[in-house]
Amino acid sequence: ANKKLLVLPGDGIGPEVMREVRRVIDWMDRRRHVAFDITEDLVGGAAIDARGTPIADATIARALEADAVLFGAVGGAKWDSLGFDKRPELAILRLRKELGLFANLRPATVLDPLVDASTLKPEVVRGLDIMIVREATGGIYFGDPRGIEILPDGTKKGINTEVYTTPEIERVARVAFELARKRQRRVCSVEKANVMESGLLWRQTVQALHDAEYADVELAHMYADNCAMQLVRNPRQFDVILTGNLFGDLLSDLASMLTGSLGMLPSATLGLADASGRRHALYEPIHGSAPDIAGKGVANPLAQMLSFAMLLRYSFDMEEDAKLIERACVNVLANGLRTADVMAPGCAKVGTQVMGEAVLRE
Ligand code: NAI
Ligand code: MG
Repeated sequence: ANKKLLVLPGDGIGPEVMREVRRVIDWMDRRRHVAFDITEDLVGGAAIDARGTPIADATIARALEADAVLFGAVGGAKWDSLGFDKRPELAILRLRKELGLFANLRPATVLDPLVDASTLKPEVVRGLDIMIVREATGGIYFGDPRGIEILPDGTKKGINTEVYTTPEIERVARVAFELARKRQRRVCSVEKANVMESGLLWRQTVQALHDAEYADVELAHMYADNCAMQLVRNPRQFDVILTGNLFGDLLSDLASMLTGSLGMLPSATLGLADASGRRHALYEPIHGSAPDIAGKGVANPLAQMLSFAMLLRYSFDMEEDAKLIERACVNVLANGLRTADVMAPGCAKVGTQVMGEAVLRE
């Protein structure tokens, strides 16, 4: 059967970078390298303007039927005055919820031609290849009790609670261990077991799962504050980092800057596998809709391109094709073509479309 792919470009630079990825998808489709059933739909502000909602129920239904979703970015000043219950960003939250997307995969990879774009020294980041697996649907952002209470003396109390259950920890740990088996077989599990009960349970649960089923993978534990320090001191010590929602949020943003530009970084969010073994999954660049450069044709399309490569690797099991796209991106950079965000001395500054065409040629 054909692979079902739902493409959701969204707002701002989303459609601009997605157009370049579509060239590659359509090329693969045309040469019958692989047959895709591709559906494209509106999401975010574009869907609000056309349909009055950031994501239509019919779009959710398509996402549930798809083998994978390729997402651009949503949001923009035009919709910023809408309430929290109406904003473009709700589209992504709803997709995460409906598809049960609990594991967020954020690679921090330094492509060789971009070693100088890092905020760190070249000798510290050359060849860097980290995968951060962040639990994405539990933890302190969602736990009860929560809220702001008014105390008898008129002062207020803001409350959030970190809750993790063993099944929640185990399913995301499994994703990390499985990934490690395809990489360097090393997982570093990160929490604050020294001061948090949920962190202690996290550590014990990951260790027990490791001992029972993944003894072939090397497992280390690290406190989150130390991990932040180690990521800057010697990031190449890590292969897969496994962590909860809050620490994963911070550490993955930190790690992204080791690589230089937001415009280069893909991500994946994976859900539970159904009875047939199919796992819902959504792939998107980590950057947003970049309103400051939208419409100018200067956005870097490589994060979106590399998100598609991840999709091929993790949802379609097309490792060779994923590598083909990744190599094409590296070659284009090595040949000295750069968008403004990764510009370097001696390189030619090009726009979104020239970059996309160059990747296709490679
Ligand atoms: P942003 O990631 O859109 O932009 C941050 C900075 O990075 C900007 O200066 C932008 O020009 C630059 N940048 C981002 N992607 C780039 C690319 N591909 N090439 C070159 N430069 C790039 O984050 P910001 O400004 O905080 O948010 C803008 C809008 O995007 C907001 O409405 C926000 O809510 C939304 N957003 C949406 C996300 C999503 O759809 N998953 C994620 C993050 C933000
Ligand atoms: Mg964040």
